[in-house]
Amino acid sequence: MPKVVVLPGDGVGPEVVSCALEVLKAVAPDLEYSEYAFGLAGTEKYGRPLGDEVLEAALGADAVFMGSVGGLPGSTDHVARELRPESGLLALRKALGVYANLRPTKVYAGLEHLSPLKPEIAGGVDILILRELLGGAYFGQPRGLEDGQGFNTIRYTTAEVQRAARWAFQAARGRSGRVCSVDKANVLEVSEFWRRVVVEVHQAEFSDIELTHEYVDSCAMILVKNPKRYDVILTENLFGDILSDLASVLPGSLGLLPSASLGDRVGLYEPIHGSAPDIAGQGIANPAATILSAAMMLTYSFNRPDQARALEGAVQKSLFSHPTRDLGGVSGSRAFTDAVLAQL
Ligand code: NAD
Ligand code: IPM
Ligand code: MN
Repeated sequence: MPKVVVLPGDGVGPEVVSCALEVLKAVAPDLEYSEYAFGLAGTEKYGRPLGDEVLEAALGADAVFMGSVGGLPGSTDHVARELRPESGLLALRKALGVYANLRPTKVYAGLEHLSPLKPEIAGGVDILILRELLGGAYFGQPRGLEDGQGFNTIRYTTAEVQRAARWAFQAARGRSGRVCSVDKANVLEVSEFWRRVVVEVHQAEFSDIELTHEYVDSCAMILVKNPKRYDVILTENLFGDILSDLASVLPGSLGLLPSASLGDRVGLYEPIHGSAPDIAGQGIANPAATILSAAMMLTYSFNRPDQARALEGAVQKSLFSHPTRDLGGVSGSRAFTDAVLAQL
């Protein structure tokens, strides 16, 4: 039986993960699950966010399914950086070698009214953000915080840009064949380098794909003004983090965006949102992003496109019939999950 390591995490994480597992078990009853404490919950149990047994289980699994971590109340100044929940997540991504982070944003037909944008702008949006996940400012050395200065390094190697670019071009082949690489090459050397490598990969291996380049500031503006311009957006770690939260507003909420983080082996699946401490414990978090992440797991780790489509279709219909509060509706997590189960 395929083994899934489940990391509910903190805040709304356990709430949305339990909803998603109910739904997942309904379409894929043969998967085997084992659950571990991770994030703040991990620190409580193991003394650090990513305990040794958790890492070992994740490395030995067929897929890792996660909620969200974080939400330490008050200032985090007194907590060593490596003991913060976010560091546990970065360490997990690094250990799994998941360099390609897929963050799709789609405005489903019939759900344009959930977008804060005009229906003619939001309608038909179908974008895949390919965020490089193991490089850039998140991992670059040197980094530090000293008296009088704080600093990080944005660094990319040829191999790191190449493998992310290949993922984006491959994905575009199965879509409408367009990649926009987003950088800040007018200011940053690292972006100039990124652009150069992307062009080389394109010319050598993917000349059938249309490649354009855009600066990240302009891209942020166009994502709101004319999002249909984009098919696949290829970008570096930090820009992808920011642009994907922005892109979640197109379908209507951060609670809608799933993700898959892929490398050469075990995939990691998680909603793009965080632990949402402001609404945790109230039963109102939108589980759609987590259910859609489960659908991505069925597709990418288990090659079960039919089961994934069933989940996606049920979510789509339930968003219409039972919109959650973040979408202007009244349904809580439970009512939404029941609607999805009923659709299945
Ligand atoms: P957040 O994504 O947790 O929340 C931002 C806003 O969106 C909040 O108002 C929240 O209520 C709302 N929101 C998020 N998910 C929702 C959902 N499913 N349904 C309805 N509303 C939802 O971002 P934040 O508040 O900046 O961060 C909180 C903590 O989460 C921080 O510690 C941060 O580091 C962490 N974080 C973790 C992850 C992750 O685990 N992958 C991702 C982002 C942030
Ligand atoms: C995300 C989150 C993480 C990131 C944090 C919590 C480390 O914001 O998954 O989008 O910045 O990658
Ligand atoms: Mn983020």
